[in-house]
Amino acid sequence: MGVKAVPQKGLEEVIAASTRLSDVDGKQGRLWYVGYDIHDLAADSTFEEVTYLLHNLRLPTEPELDELAERLVSEREVSPFLEGLMPTLAEQTSPMSMLRTGISAASAYDPDGWDNGPEANERKAVRLIAKTPTLIAMYHRMRTGEVIVPPHPKLPHAANFLYMLSGEEPEQLDAAALDTTLILYADHTMNASTFTARVIASTLSDMFSAITGAIAALKGPLHGGANEEAMKMLEEVGDPANAERYIKEKLGRRERIMGFGHRVYKTEDPRATHLRRLSQEMGKRKGDTRWFDISAEIERVVGQEKGLHPNVDFFAASVYRYLNIPTDLMTPVFALARMVGWTAHVREQYADNRLIRPESEYVGPRDQVYVPIDRRG
Ligand SMILES: CC(C)(COP(=O)(O)OP(=O)(O)OC[C@H]1O[C@@H](n2cnc3c(N)ncnc32)[C@H](O)[C@@H]1OP(=O)(O)O)[C@@H](O)C(=O)NCCC(=O)NCCS
Repeated sequence: MGVKAVPQKGLEEVIAASTRLSDVDGKQGRLWYVGYDIHDLAADSTFEEVTYLLHNLRLPTEPELDELAERLVSEREVSPFLEGLMPTLAEQTSPMSMLRTGISAASAYDPDGWDNGPEANERKAVRLIAKTPTLIAMYHRMRTGEVIVPPHPKLPHAANFLYMLSGEEPEQLDAAALDTTLILYADHTMNASTFTARVIASTLSDMFSAITGAIAALKGPLHGGANEEAMKMLEEVGDPANAERYIKEKLGRRERIMGFGHRVYKTEDPRATHLRRLSQEMGKRKGDTRWFDISAEIERVVGQEKGLHPNVDFFAASVYRYLNIPTDLMTPVFALARMVGWTAHVREQYADNRLIRPESEYVGPRDQVYVPIDRRG
């Protein structure tokens, strides 16, 4: 057997799968979905259109987009089983734990059951994308003792989520801002949660299991949990004038600044460009520039001290604050957008599957002599 190279810790630069879904150029700070530049999609597309793109590998015609949008609307309601589970989840679990358990439990009532064929999986993907916002909003309203708001039959995905969360139809510009963030979060090559989903799918386990695993991976603060941590930091800083001291002290304790740095991007994350702009615009529009101003000052100091750029999660925090999304729902919102990418990757994995089963480098002792327990001292 030939000598095998040991990959970098954290599998850095290891290519784990082939995909037609998204591509990044970390040096240039570029991101494409199915070959379309993220800047064009963020400027001109909608979340529903990007959903169609990632699941069909082409842009839809108008009737095709309308049909998908209608299917998403018709699949928004969750089963009475999940509604029955929700009071316990709302009382006992954090939002991401609720989502992990809720999506896992949703498999029990999926009309396609254990059918793992391509058509059934396309339908399961639509249901997962459609129902995730409902679960999150239902959980939030239950834990705050408010009446549950059923999905709106007319509103698009982003606007409907804000509606179910607050009970009021959102302003058009707010819905559009959320829609843009969902586009930016929809997919991102072989990130930890997508890789997790593909590993599970590669065993030919079902889509709900793969997505449950992906949510578990997203939950961690080094991945999706970073937007919530970034928001907590903005709150702790409280005022732009405190940012420099706060960041220097944190770095002095060798702590990480959440929302900065990236495994792949060594320059500006192209998603951060849009989120920074949205944060600034929303601050002005709402007459409260504090969250943007603190963010901009933190960005300046982290750049000066460490040369690190903000990633997608940093300015997402202030944008979601301007949309009145509670801090602990920011990672679930990431999940509701990434549901599109995860389900598309799972379908791609099934379509050309081989079990993902890497090897490890053994670094422990060898040739040990077994001593029976009564003779161990
Ligand atoms: C995303 C992340 C895990 C990628 O990290 P990675 O490729 O594994 O890089 P490493 O953890 O090896 O870090 C490399 C160096 O940069 C530093 N660094 C990276 N991100 C940093 C951050 N956010 N704050 C402070 N220092 C950071 C590390 O301390 C390390 O420095 P050292 O060599 O002096 O110890 C990392 O940048 C991070 O922890 N960021 C904060 C969490 C976050 O925002 N996650 C969301 C990602 S989209």
